[in-house]
Amino acid sequence: MRMANEGEKPWWERGVIYQIYPRSFQDSNGDGVGDLAGIEARLDYVAALGVDAIWLSPIFPSPMADFGYDVADYCGIDPLFGDFKAFDSLISAVHARGLKLLLDFVPNHTSDQHPWFLESRSARRNPKRDWYIWRDPSADGGVPNNWISDFGGSSWEWDEATGQYYLHAFLKNQPDLNWRNPEVREAMSAVLRFWLDRGVDGFRIDVLWHIVKHEAFPDNPLNPDWTPKITERDRLLQIFSTDQPEAHAISAQIRDLVDEYGERVLVGEIFLPNERHSRWYGTPERPQVHLPFNFQLIENAWEAERLREVIADYEASLPDFGWPNWVLGSHDAPRIAARIGEAQARVAAMLLLTLRGTPTLYQGDELGIGEVTIPPERMRDPQHLRQPTLGIGRDRSRTPMPWNTRVNAGFSTAEPWLPPNDDWKKRNVATQLADPGSMLHFYRSLLALRRAHPALSVGSFRMLSGARDVLAYVREHDGESLWVVLNLASEARRCELFQEGVAEVLASTLATRPFDGTLMADEGLVLRYGRET
Ligand code: GLC
Repeated sequence: MRMANEGEKPWWERGVIYQIYPRSFQDSNGDGVGDLAGIEARLDYVAALGVDAIWLSPIFPSPMADFGYDVADYCGIDPLFGDFKAFDSLISAVHARGLKLLLDFVPNHTSDQHPWFLESRSARRNPKRDWYIWRDPSADGGVPNNWISDFGGSSWEWDEATGQYYLHAFLKNQPDLNWRNPEVREAMSAVLRFWLDRGVDGFRIDVLWHIVKHEAFPDNPLNPDWTPKITERDRLLQIFSTDQPEAHAISAQIRDLVDEYGERVLVGEIFLPNERHSRWYGTPERPQVHLPFNFQLIENAWEAERLREVIADYEASLPDFGWPNWVLGSHDAPRIAARIGEAQARVAAMLLLTLRGTPTLYQGDELGIGEVTIPPERMRDPQHLRQPTLGIGRDRSRTPMPWNTRVNAGFSTAEPWLPPNDDWKKRNVATQLADPGSMLHFYRSLLALRRAHPALSVGSFRMLSGARDVLAYVREHDGESLWVVLNLASEARRCELFQEGVAEVLASTLATRPFDGTLMADEGLVLRYGRET
């Protein structure tokens, strides 16, 4: 494999990924659900934001038990989202704007309505029986082992007609495929080729670390730290049901296939501790995914000391050739502004867009959407509906984009499938475009700054010790040195580090002002020191 040198970094190292949740971006046909034509109609907005690639959550035919992550046909488009004409039109429009398009590839499981599964469950002797994971009851007549589904309850579902259990890591409507079967691997390679031939620039691979299970299906060990306040899934440590050594060979095969198509990119959804997470890069000789998604900004407390450690440990865990990445929000995680407040959400945006590594930005975070109240009768997320007392519902991150102050926030002429953010009349794209101090303008200016200064995208990274509550680091490239100082506290902090020399303030989370060594509450700055003459 040819490694790009300094001057010619691939787009996915320099660029920024923007996640679109198609159900909730823009409805074009008045059914209350977003669609492909809607996305195309809003592409100028995305391009003007200044991102480089769009990743679309699943758009394939699906009964929508898990809102598209239950795929019934990998090579189709769900009529809710449009058809191939709409898809081809969207991808040309994306490319015409110099953007890339990534699709969601959901290899671990299909829908229980996928023809493969319908065949598999039709009879024990069906040729597709072994495409899924079927097991006899255990000796006592119960489930084959103690594995728990990520959405709660046993991972095993009894099939009365054929007298066996099938495995599902998520809903029972999402049976797990058997990737040890070469026919499955071949069928899925054909799926990847189908979309690559159609011009997509890569894939985000859903729950990649789940893809292979231990051959002997042993019980998972109990998690000693489990309490009833956390999800049932976490009762057990998923030692035997995830992250098996054989999965890496599959991930390398997927990479080989994608590499045949030139500069395409694989992003892997992987939740693991650093030392196991970094193995998903593979090796220079046998690479796997380009970007194993790094969710640590979502998972850790918003504290400077903690984040300093997180960043240092993550950087240290990367293989030499591995390019880092950072994710701040997604359709699965609580909104960043809901978690840390709007003022700190600006600091978080500055962090995301100035750390070393490809940032992934989730739709709506650029507007600072925070907590959304969803009346119980409108909640749709199956994870929440199965474990309603835990407060883990994902609906509040999936609400429709508020575009303007018109009916239904300009998202749809019909009542949207989920209500928009409570404050949509004030917090929407049109209103923020008209306000130079808005979060949207702030994001746009940060993205423009990042593009104008390669130090912020491909530059080196050096952590500074910083003061209490302050994260500080230097990004350097080609003789330019930019300093990022972020006050994670809601009180002013002195920052001795910067008393000498006069710094030019390139960006601020607050109104720009000359820097005097003090950081105001919730202030983050990107600084450039005068070059020595
Ligand atoms: C991933 C998706 C999530 C989905 C799950 C099962 O984590 O991001 O939305 O529910 O996989 O496919």
